[in-house]
Amino acid sequence: MHSASHKSNPIRHQPANQSERGRARFGRSGILPTLLAALGLLTTISQACYYDNKEDLFPDTTSCQTDSMSFSQHIVPILNTYCISCHNNASAQAGISLEGYSNVINFVNDGRLLKTIKHEPGVVPMPLNQDKMPECPIQRIDAWIQQGAPDN
Ligand code: HEC
Repeated sequence: MHSASHKSNPIRHQPANQSERGRARFGRSGILPTLLAALGLLTTISQACYYDNKEDLFPDTTSCQTDSMSFSQHIVPILNTYCISCHNNASAQAGISLEGYSNVINFVNDGRLLKTIKHEPGVVPMPLNQDKMPECPIQRIDAWIQQGAPDN
């Protein structure tokens, strides 16, 4: 009867303590503490891995700025980092140079620049024999192409 109700397990009615709250229980009130704990963990990791590439660790789409992309400021550095070692004028693997706008625009126009970096079917995925680039550089190249692939 009613006398039994106050003896029931208190955990079912209220968070008992910090460790209980921190557990990943994605019901009603459980989600906020879980998110806060995850955020705290990410902050800790980002400080611990100060010298690691942030974009690799956190492919965070919200922090990737894709407005008004510039070929020289945004696209060339990406190509230099991930592609140019194999696709430069002196050593153009597969006959493909990605050095300079006049070369790059050919692969924008035939669609292969975007397809290879997005690992879409029908092309050899790039960078060759490596993981996909992080999301942000892919989004920036995509955005630059959508913005008309200007030589700016
Ligand atoms: C380690 C060397 C290497 C790197 C790094 C590399 N490529 Fe390539 N790429 C190649 C080789 C080799 C081929 C020819 C592959 C084949 O035909 O089997 C190729 C082919 C291509 C092709 C033609 C693919 C097709 O199927 O028609 C494109 C476009 C391309 N690369 C773009 C890129 C881009 C963009 C990057 C950087 C994100 C990149 N590559 C990085 C070596 C590389």
